[in-house]
Amino acid sequence: MKSLEEAALADKKVLVRIDTDVPLTDGDPIEVKDDYRLQKLLPTLFFLMNHRAKIILCGHLGRPPAKVNPSLSMKPVFTHLSALVNKKILFATDPFSTQTTETIGEMADGDIIGLENIRFFRGEEDNSRTFARKLANLAEIYVNEAFGTSHREAASVVAITEFLPSYAGLQLEREMEVLTNLTRHPAHPFIAIVGGAKISDKLPVIRNLLPKVDRVIVGGGVANTFLASQGVDIKNSEVEEGYIDRAGEMFKNSKGKIILPVDYAWSDDMILDIGEKSTLQTIQYIKSAKTILWSGVPGKIEQSPFEKASKAIAKAIADSPATSLVGGGDTVGFIDSLGLTHRYSFVSTGGSALLELLGGRVLPGIRALG
Ligand code: 3PG
Repeated sequence: MKSLEEAALADKKVLVRIDTDVPLTDGDPIEVKDDYRLQKLLPTLFFLMNHRAKIILCGHLGRPPAKVNPSLSMKPVFTHLSALVNKKILFATDPFSTQTTETIGEMADGDIIGLENIRFFRGEEDNSRTFARKLANLAEIYVNEAFGTSHREAASVVAITEFLPSYAGLQLEREMEVLTNLTRHPAHPFIAIVGGAKISDKLPVIRNLLPKVDRVIVGGGVANTFLASQGVDIKNSEVEEGYIDRAGEMFKNSKGKIILPVDYAWSDDMILDIGEKSTLQTIQYIKSAKTILWSGVPGKIEQSPFEKASKAIAKAIADSPATSLVGGGDTVGFIDSLGLTHRYSFVSTGGSALLELLGGRVLPGIRALG
């Protein structure tokens, strides 16, 4: 993996893959709700500006299925980023139009252009070489500054490295260094707290983590599917029906390592948070742990009082002397809003990427950097 510091950047068009999947506000205008991921891009952006590169930013928001979705436009992200770097950021609605190529051609050293959500375009999520080549044609150098997306085999993360000299961004380099060191010989008990909405995302990650950790404590929608697999009546709660059997199988084979909530906070007939006993149970595990990995909140934090358990967990981890690693857009935004970010050992810009790395997977985006 070559560091950005080794690259000859002056006067070069540099395409930077960034992870801009940040929480946004609802409504008009749409704004960035938490900018932790954007703040972490700044060292690389200033480095590129100071080294007189012409900067092309390429990121994604959400999961649009290869078609335009105005509510997932990158415009609010670049408006926010522009204020952070104190410089105008040009915007390309169509990265592949002649007009965009011309605009890039006219850019001065240190200028920045942002491309529209790269997941609006077919080929990105299939890791298409043809699509990657088109993207590569915009630039002369590629930088991966998207640790949080490096677990995805996507054209702007993996295939593009075949067509351009490729470098690791400063934050990505730091993530890899810190996470590799912190977790080479993790102190035990090592617990993982995994929440979030979708078990389909988290099942493979939990499978990889199980041999490495002593406990996986689940919450959120992830827990609901496990609960359903154990015959708990979760009524109308969010669940992924197609995953119930697999969750049940994994729970059985985990030999007691997967810890499910034992009580729940309901809104009508839906579970929106774990209950008080489950919160206390989680805090007990936190108190006895020496390494804690947290990604995904257990409750619907945006709807009071269903942020209660997440708050208690966030505080308990902050108070713990254990090595604590936190990741995931919502989780990071949440601890930030509580003013606790500085009390964790490391706050990652990755969510699933963090969990996958710690589960022992070589991330495709990192492998592609050589
Ligand atoms: C994230 O938010 O974890 C990254 O941006 C990756 O998003 P994805 O899970 O939609 O690929």
